[in-house]
Amino acid sequence: VVELSLRPTILAEYIGQDKVKENLHIFIQAAKMREEALDHVLLYGPPGLGKTTLAAIIANEMGVEFRSTSGPAIERSGDLAAILSSLEPGDVLFIDEVHRLPRSVEEVLYPAMEDYFLDIVIGTGPSARSVRIDLPPFTLVGATTRAGLLSAPLRDRFGVLSRLEFYETKDLCHIIERTASIFQMPIKKEAAEEIASRSRGTPRIANRLLKRIRDISQVGGESEITLETTRRALQMLQVDHAGLDHIDHKLLKSIIQDFNGGPVGLDTIAATIGEEAQTIEDVYEPYLLQIGFIQRTPRGRIVTEKAYTHFGIER
Ligand code: ADE
Repeated sequence: VVELSLRPTILAEYIGQDKVKENLHIFIQAAKMREEALDHVLLYGPPGLGKTTLAAIIANEMGVEFRSTSGPAIERSGDLAAILSSLEPGDVLFIDEVHRLPRSVEEVLYPAMEDYFLDIVIGTGPSARSVRIDLPPFTLVGATTRAGLLSAPLRDRFGVLSRLEFYETKDLCHIIERTASIFQMPIKKEAAEEIASRSRGTPRIANRLLKRIRDISQVGGESEITLETTRRALQMLQVDHAGLDHIDHKLLKSIIQDFNGGPVGLDTIAATIGEEAQTIEDVYEPYLLQIGFIQRTPRGRIVTEKAYTHFGIER
């Protein structure tokens, strides 16, 4: 219950991503003035930046129901037909990991998105026939880590494309203070800033660290989260000064030690450290690229001088 109420429910409560918010605010207002469904929205960017939260806010601001599913959960076109035909006019259907929809389902989605109808084939062989089912106007909100993962025809059917960026430290600091106040746990400004600067630009990470630090602070009998406790807790949690965790370290050190700083291919790194290539690419690499610890070259990933300096390793 607390977990759910941590999420802001209106745009005005949503901290950061100013450009995305500003655009959505206008498009939502316009759709409401015209009493139409909002155009389909694609939200893309690294995990933990608030794509699901924004999708729920869009439904709330439009005053419609929020229905949520994911690409891999929709296995057959019949599953999609069942969901779409149960929508009320204007409803928001959120599909997380929309790039993982099976191709056959995707094809059924095109006319649904474009003209609000489904073409379903019933039966097989000579007795097969196609039935047309009209749908209410609806808004598809799709989420994915990279827009490039979507097929071009699917991407082209979204009218609004919004990229979520890593959060600035000051925005993360506000998010941490907001969450702490929902927990009714006082926190020193310096402590919130420390967590913010070590959360990899990601609210999900900031809130997770805050929860664990709160545990440690409470067990220690404190009535307020201090900077000292925060630093001690982050050390226990194996989060370094740049916010990098155990897996970031394994990744960077493997490139440095096993591949002499690179270049090395993603699949080779993945096999070496025993993580999925897709997870490295979607979860770990984006922030390391953003802070300039790694670079992508045509011949593979290389670790930069900055990363060597971070570890105090001579090149
Ligand atoms: N909690 C997580 N992300 C948030 C955001 N962007 N704004 C407010 N609260 C949040």
